[in-house]
Amino acid sequence: MLKDEVLKILYLEDGYISGETISRKLGVTRAAVNSAVKALRDEGYEITSSTNRGYLLVNSPDVLTKGSVSVFLPDKLSADLYVFDSVDSTNNVLKEMAGKGAPSGTVVIADHQTGGKGRLGRSFSSPSGVGIYLSFLFKPDSGLNRIADLTSWTAVAVCDAIYNAYGIDTKIKWVNDIVLNRKKICGILTEATVEGESGMIDNCIIGIGINVNESSFPEELSQIATSISLENGQKTFDRSKLAAELIRSLNDILYRWPDDPYYLNRYRKSNITAGSRIVAYPRLAENSTGRPGTAVEINDDFTLNVRFDDGSTEDLRSGEVSVRGLYGYT
Ligand code: BTN
Repeated sequence: MLKDEVLKILYLEDGYISGETISRKLGVTRAAVNSAVKALRDEGYEITSSTNRGYLLVNSPDVLTKGSVSVFLPDKLSADLYVFDSVDSTNNVLKEMAGKGAPSGTVVIADHQTGGKGRLGRSFSSPSGVGIYLSFLFKPDSGLNRIADLTSWTAVAVCDAIYNAYGIDTKIKWVNDIVLNRKKICGILTEATVEGESGMIDNCIIGIGINVNESSFPEELSQIATSISLENGQKTFDRSKLAAELIRSLNDILYRWPDDPYYLNRYRKSNITAGSRIVAYPRLAENSTGRPGTAVEINDDFTLNVRFDDGSTEDLRSGEVSVRGLYGYT
């Protein structure tokens, strides 16, 4: 879209740039540049104009659009990026695109989800204007047994992206919740389709939901959930910048998969579960009493080694067990 291209030129320019130069760069008329600038102003971009010098981008609103994310990306990484105002679930939209042949690396982002999905059939609250709801398509050429690794690699990619965008150090609660000050700011839902004959993953949809600028949470969630803004004095963070960093770090996975040691090392460094007292609950009976124990370490396959209080030791798999802290969420 022309408006997105004009935005990128304005963003990358240090000072004023003339309408003439923009129209030449893009091979369009001056009038087309004028209407693109008007459309950007209508979206909330503050663009001043001066008769002799041209246009200057002074301020950007916190919107999530293809244009706002692309200014932070090289062109090749925004080629397969789709950004919507509102969808039921970005995972569902991307699943449909994958079925029609979308390539590995395709990204769907929404500002709002009406039917955001969490793990274990739960819903994922996805209000507009504050979060990032992003799905990434990967065709990994691996067996289904590697899906847990992929989700853990994604947790690392999210921590890297938050650090690169905002300089904030987040932690990982096993297996794939990203936490800040021991409360959850991000969840990951990975959904895969498998090639029947070979048992290899056909399409893997990695869905990531991040609480960026929420200013409050419902009472029942406030003990376990928070946002990046709430933990940083209610400052507003640029969601497009983080969305772009996420796309970069997820793309790195495409090239570093399947056995780059960086991910396991970084996961272990960021993990806060190993070393703590935990209670393990079978996935299908989360309201049962649970087994108390001590999480010992993250194994090479991202399973969690736990020494239970009854003296037994087990390697827990995320698909089968969830863990909570002995005294709360972490
Ligand atoms: C969880 O913590 O239970 C996982 C939450 C995953 C939410 C994301 S938001 C983007 C993508 N689309 C969805 O419907 N869910 C995932």
